[in-house]
Amino acid sequence: MDADSETSEGLKYKRVLLKISGEALMGPSDFGIDMPTCLKFAEEIAAAREAGAEICLVIGGGNIFRGMAGAANGMERSQADSMGMLATVMNALAMQSALETIGVQTRVQSGIRMDEICEPFIRRRAIRHMEKGRVVIFAAGTGNPYFTTDTGAALRAAEMHCEAMLKGTQVDGVYSADPKHNPDAVRYDHLTYQDVLARNLRVMDASAVSLMRDTNIPIVVFSLHNKGALQDVLSGKGPSTVISGS
Ligand code: GTP
Repeated sequence: MDADSETSEGLKYKRVLLKISGEALMGPSDFGIDMPTCLKFAEEIAAAREAGAEICLVIGGGNIFRGMAGAANGMERSQADSMGMLATVMNALAMQSALETIGVQTRVQSGIRMDEICEPFIRRRAIRHMEKGRVVIFAAGTGNPYFTTDTGAALRAAEMHCEAMLKGTQVDGVYSADPKHNPDAVRYDHLTYQDVLARNLRVMDASAVSLMRDTNIPIVVFSLHNKGALQDVLSGKGPSTVISGS
């Protein structure tokens, strides 16, 4: 047994894609990037990495610019989505900085070429980075307008042969109603892709969920705010909602 398989013993998922919303990086602020919050997430990722997981990241851009909001304000949609994709690059660079501050090796790969500041997305190279223990941060979504970062995350999870897509949110799973407003809301431990699509549960957008269904990659929804939650999810423990085929 090699060193890597020893350290990853006990992990339910060894290679995962972690999706974080841009808003999560705002921390207590109303806008932008809060570095202490980035560092908190970086520490969670570092601990999971040390436990033997191979991790790649997709971060949204809504803390800086939302393509949909730009389009709603009269901007041409493709143009607005390009600006949203640029926002995700800023977030990727901020998380790279946070991770490197605590000694985690990272690489940022962008779906839109901007060679002076990060690598272009090259699938086989990204896989090699992960095998070497680097955290790969995928920026600029799919590189195309009309897609969300959820869909970008689903696409990269499939391309990287991830065993799960972990969706870190403000609450610890998918609830029957908004738990912040309804005390009777219950958390589902398990849902099928079909449940999510047919009941229009707003976990991720439908194209991301259907891509996960087609590639049979489970989506695990969990809270980013509970310390150790990422490691728990990787070990199949802790509160979460698992969305899978059956
Ligand atoms: P190995 O080949 O596994 O050693 O990977 P590596 O990423 O360390 O190799 P490389 O020598 O290609 O990269 C060294 C550094 O340059 C890393 O920090 C990369 O992220 C960075 N780098 C590589 N390609 C590009 C690029 O196209 N643009 C930018 N901005 N940085 C790059």
